[in-house]
Order: sequence, then structure tokens, then C-alpha cells
Amino acid sequence: MDGNGRWANERNLPRIEGHRRGAEAVKRTLAAAQKHGVKNITLYAFSVENWNRPKDEVEALMGLLNRFLKDQLPELIKRKIRLRVIGRFKELPQSTQDALRKAEAATAEFTEYTLGLALNYGSRTEVVDAIKGVVKAAAAGEVDMSNFLYDDLRPFLYTGDMPDPDLVIRTSGELRLSNFLMLQCAYAEIHITKTRWPDFKEADFAAALDDFANRERRYGKTSQQLQKA
Ligand code: IPE
Ligand code: MG
Repeated sequence: MDGNGRWANERNLPRIEGHRRGAEAVKRTLAAAQKHGVKNITLYAFSVENWNRPKDEVEALMGLLNRFLKDQLPELIKRKIRLRVIGRFKELPQSTQDALRKAEAATAEFTEYTLGLALNYGSRTEVVDAIKGVVKAAAAGEVDMSNFLYDDLRPFLYTGDMPDPDLVIRTSGELRLSNFLMLQCAYAEIHITKTRWPDFKEADFAAALDDFANRERRYGKTSQQLQKA
């Protein structure tokens, strides 16, 4: 969800106003995803690198997040969406941790739709944390390192049993992944739109799905092999 700051700058508004409008785009996108039958979405809301922003912006973002969780919990329940947080949870402010735990617990029973929230997330810290988990499990004799495959690594990632993304949508035009689900996105299709995140609407979501529908997903094979199958 990129471009909140630029959206605000372009209108001579404070950056936080862009973030506020970004929260509205999140609500629209949740509704659009469900309408279009997308069962799992993950929003990159705050990266491990975002702590380096000015203190007042970080505080405002955490405040917005707390408000969003409070306001939107009834909506998640109504829509039967399970909330899953991925990232270094314990470094988040206590009030945010409490609001997240509450929302996770209140939606834990839902199995059809999942909203992943990447908070204090970074792929590199995720890999480090996964390695620590594997080493601990190996020392306890819980994993067999002589026969260790990628599928054995999966449960140690924050995403655990969440499916790998099929499609990544990046708003505001930057051509990079910025430390987002780098392992899980190995074979994701990437859709980049110039639209600023606060302007993102259902039509933009539908356009991304159309783009995705026209991709040929070869997973290393040739086009001819796929046509034969
Ligand atoms: C995305 O918008 C919101 C964030 C996480 C944290 P930005 O704040 O990155 O917007 P730009 O890149 O300054 O336009
Ligand atoms: Mg940005």
C-alpha cells in the first residue's frame, strides 16, 4: 500500500492525512476482494524499516492502526474474515498488541477468508527468525536436518499455513518488492499501478485481477509444455 505520503504532498496536506485516506482504501479493498472471490489477502501495513520514519509519523500510524482495529472488528466478524498478523509482534506498542490479539481471537473460528496484516514485517527478519526456530527444533530432535526440504521450512515462517500469494499489487508505481514476502512471492505475479494507495478503488482491484488472468504461469516450464497439458 504505497503512495499515501505522495498523495498528501500533492494536495498540500500533512502525510498523516494520506494515511487516514489510506485506511479508507483498505476498507474498500476488503469489500472488493470478497466481492471478487479473493479469499486471502495480506496488506503490507508497516515494515521493519518503517521505524526509521519521523517519530510523529510512526506514532500517528500506530494510532490509526489501533483505531482501524477497533472500528473494523465488527466488520471483519460480519464478513467472516479471520485476521492473521505476520511480523515481529512483540516489538509493537502494547496497546496495538492487545488490539491485535483481541481481533485475532474474535475471528479465529473463520476459515474461508483471511486478512493477513504485515506489521513490523520484513522478509529478512522473517528468515532469521525461521532459522532460529529450525535450530531450536533440531536441537530438540523435532526436525530431521539430513532430509530437510523447503516444505519443512514453511511452518517456521510467520505465514505458517497461509498459502503463497498468487498476485502482488503494488500501488504508486515503484518497481520493487521492498522486503515483502520475498520467499512466499517466488512465483507470484506482480501488478504495479501508478494509482496512489488512497485513490485505490474496486475498479483498480478488478484491473489487477484482469491483468493476473492474462498471465501465463509457467513455473519454470516452457509455454509448449503448458499448452499440451
Ligand atoms: C504507504 O505510504 C504507507 C505505509 C506504510 C507505511 P507511504 O507513506 O510510503 O507513501 P509515500 O511513499 O511517501 O508516497
Ligand atoms: Mg512509500
